[in-house]
Amino acid sequence: MLKRSFRFGNLDVSPCTVLSPMAGVTDAPFRRLCRVLAADRIGLLVSEFVSTDGTSPFVLKNRKQLRFYPEERPFGIQIFGRTPERMAYAAELLETLSPDYIEVNAGCPVPKVADKGGGAGLLKDLPRLQKILSEVKKNIKVPMTLKCRIGWDENSLNALEILRIAEGEGVDMLTVHGRTRVQGYNGFADWDKIGEVASAAHIPVVGNGDVSSVKVALERLEKYDVAGVSIGRGAMHNPWLFGEVADALEGTGVRTISVTEVCSIFKIYYSFMMEEGTSSEFGSLGRLKQLAARLCKGFEPETLEFRQKVLVSQSPEELFDRAAAFVEFAQSNGISFAPERLVNLNGKKDDMISFDRQFKK
Ligand SMILES: Cc1cc2nc3c(=O)[nH]c(=O)nc-3n(C[C@H](O)[C@H](O)[C@H](O)COP(=O)(O)O)c2cc1C
Repeated sequence: MLKRSFRFGNLDVSPCTVLSPMAGVTDAPFRRLCRVLAADRIGLLVSEFVSTDGTSPFVLKNRKQLRFYPEERPFGIQIFGRTPERMAYAAELLETLSPDYIEVNAGCPVPKVADKGGGAGLLKDLPRLQKILSEVKKNIKVPMTLKCRIGWDENSLNALEILRIAEGEGVDMLTVHGRTRVQGYNGFADWDKIGEVASAAHIPVVGNGDVSSVKVALERLEKYDVAGVSIGRGAMHNPWLFGEVADALEGTGVRTISVTEVCSIFKIYYSFMMEEGTSSEFGSLGRLKQLAARLCKGFEPETLEFRQKVLVSQSPEELFDRAAAFVEFAQSNGISFAPERLVNLNGKKDDMISFDRQFKK
């Protein structure tokens, strides 16, 4: 039977979907956009990661990643760092902002985090990971979750060991991204490995990696013992994906997203950014262009013309006008929105994968 929801701590996750945290992407405006397009049907939202490392004491001031809105609940704050005491202190302080849960990151692959022992660096130092979890747990009352990868490299796949540590330290829910640190975002996620961890778990395990369409989401939920799916880059290319998955879980047929709908979201996204007040008009224009460039990859047949026009827009208004003109062009030229053809979420249409940008061991 297809699962539709799950629980951890005092939280109902319904439907069983999570918008994966993505630094520089899933800020409050983007999270709200996904939520609106899904008619509120996303199980969990979480902040971009928040660093607890540094030499001066952790403070809440001037951290725009911490802003969230009541309609985003259940909402978690994700932290990363290498020092158990700093992680625990930050978690205690962050709890005063009333998130619904706190998440520990053991998956960030970037060298400046992982090579210093935080993020995915914890996959190589399980005693440190254990200490972080036990110290954070002591300092918070809300549920604690963990997000990890399946291991540092293909010779050290230790997600099962991490699961045991997590359960022992009172982690309430574990998200497993099915890649190693060395893979970065290349190759495909190993869902059999994710499934192995989920089947061995006494806590809910959420699977993550390459969920690019409703079809893939349903296949993963059916085939593996995961409690839910966490969707990252799939939502960057198709912010309607959560609504589509929710429709499918509710038994409603999949509907097609029209080019008109695609082009209508720029104004919504912009209004959320303005409400947020943290980025300048120039900064917001940049974010609009990023969103447009990603959505363009989903047009069938692909059109470079709109992409080029959008990217040279000098103001949000100009971008909106160009989007409106594109709708007419698309209607008379039979262009549709079909992001599910993006198999490789790094933006490629086929499954050709380059391994040139893997991280060193
Ligand atoms: C631009 C970008 C930023 C990310 N930032 C974070 C982060 O802050 N915290 C985190 O746990 N994972 C982060 N990730 C990893 C994603 O949450 C997710 O695990 C990964 O993209 C695999 O899922 P996907 O195949 O659905 O994209 C990031 C990924 C991307 C592409």
